[in-house]
Amino acid sequence: MFDDSSGTVLDEIINARRTYRIFRPGVPPAVHIGGIIQAGLAAPFAAAAVGGKGHEYFRQFFVFPRGSRDLVIAGGLLMQKVHMMAEELEMQMKNNPSLRPKVEPFYCRLEMIRKAGVVPGVETAPYYIVVAERKGYPPVEQQSLAHCLENMWLKATSLNLGFQLVSVTGQMGPDPEFCRLLGIQPDVFELNGCAVGYYQEQLPPSIRPPAELVTRWME
Ligand SMILES: Cc1cc2nc3c(=O)[nH]c(=O)nc-3n(C[C@H](O)[C@H](O)[C@H](O)COP(=O)(O)O)c2cc1C
Repeated sequence: MFDDSSGTVLDEIINARRTYRIFRPGVPPAVHIGGIIQAGLAAPFAAAAVGGKGHEYFRQFFVFPRGSRDLVIAGGLLMQKVHMMAEELEMQMKNNPSLRPKVEPFYCRLEMIRKAGVVPGVETAPYYIVVAERKGYPPVEQQSLAHCLENMWLKATSLNLGFQLVSVTGQMGPDPEFCRLLGIQPDVFELNGCAVGYYQEQLPPSIRPPAELVTRWME
């Protein structure tokens, strides 16, 4: 059983969770990364979808320290994907101009990344972590990964660490070279990723509407 102070601490952590995009050079200890991964493992998963035995555990984690050889390779492959996505979107907008208003903000974000030459969170933070969830039926792996990443995010927040989603990782599940680097079969897992490190400057809690304003109690 929890006492009232547990709820207060949880609320504090939930409200302090922010997206950090600028990290200090220092490297958090590996034991913190282990704690963050353990929190991810504690997240729910779609038991009916990933049921079945005889495989390795359905959720796997890959930790890339900054400066590592593998991170340089991963960064190059992620950047290639950003280029491909931008080119594809450009083509789609050209062929169907009515798409432009909807797609343009995301296209601009990809263009910004192309110009910067680095995928935010990859090589800009001490750790880039890829999380893999084996595909099942129905295909709910990205939902499962979101639960996992939220747990990791809250745990990182509780350790006073900054955390950033690296959602382009979600495009890499079918990529043969990226999967070869991870040592998994392409198209067998859905992927997502995040960056973790000491944040440069603590951000204030983000502003959200009060619950009453967005809640309708049904009769
Ligand atoms: C599905 C999803 C994908 C996201 N992808 C990225 C990302 O790739 N890079 C990034 O810096 N932030 C990413 N974010 C973070 C959001 O931009 C951020 O949560 C939002 O602006 C609110 O800010 P806060 O997290 O500080 O409260 C993503 C958030 C969600 C929910």
